[in-house]
Amino acid sequence: MALNVEIIKPDIGAIVHAGRPEILDKGDAQEYLDLLERHGALIFPGLDLSDEEQLAFTDKLGSRINFTKTVAGGSAGNDVYNITLDKKLNAEPEYVYGTFFWHLDGVTSPNPPPKASILSCRHTAPKGGQTEFCSTYSAYEALPEDEQEELKGLRVVHSVVAAVREVVKEEDIDPVKAAFRQEHPLVWTHKSGRKSLLIGYTADYVVGMSKPAGRALLARLLEWTAQPRFTYRHQWREGDLAVWDNTGALHRVIPYDEASGRLMRRTSLAGFEEVA
Ligand code: OGA
Ligand code: MN
Repeated sequence: MALNVEIIKPDIGAIVHAGRPEILDKGDAQEYLDLLERHGALIFPGLDLSDEEQLAFTDKLGSRINFTKTVAGGSAGNDVYNITLDKKLNAEPEYVYGTFFWHLDGVTSPNPPPKASILSCRHTAPKGGQTEFCSTYSAYEALPEDEQEELKGLRVVHSVVAAVREVVKEEDIDPVKAAFRQEHPLVWTHKSGRKSLLIGYTADYVVGMSKPAGRALLARLLEWTAQPRFTYRHQWREGDLAVWDNTGALHRVIPYDEASGRLMRRTSLAGFEEVA
């Protein structure tokens, strides 16, 4: 099946015009994975998937993973996670506030990072709440060669403590969560041979560099990556679904109010490859 795809920007973003029966019944996983690889973030406007359908679509692409382990409630249980600041629906608002800052999902847990995150919009916020995506492939590829060379071999420690540093004090973080940390190469060389930057707010420090120098490097790379040419901002409508390549794109949400009623439902596609 040839999907009807409209490119948003050359470096990131495409709209897939397909209905619910089409994405669930037709087309194979590889077709969607190729699109993800090519465009970084895919928007399916107005799909209106139920939890069960969202899980079915996730399973169609590979195998689902639940890296949060938080009870999300709802008819499909744990594998669908509520992204909301409504405390009745998510008991850990500090981690949801963490989504206001550029990040990749699941890079502080021991499994390979999820290949993709799949987010459907149940309720929009009246103000804010747009999601931004930026391509860490394009950002790496556009760096001057001497700067690429300087990044070779560098390794970075990613932690939950760093991910929520703007939101909670280290001593207030649940000790089990505070222990989550993983070391990754700064430049991810994928099986395909392409390279991307593994950065974002989860990145705490560069191994073997002084903290100020390493953090300045990470901050500069993040600013470079988040420049408008590599970034797409999605204005949600209820029922939209977004699927992004969590191995080649960062994301964050534009701040919205706790009382806004904004509610998103997220599923995650397990990673296919270790970070290398
Ligand atoms: C996520 C996330 C951003 C948003 O679901 O992992 O960071 O727009 N969401 O809610
Ligand atoms: Mn996220």
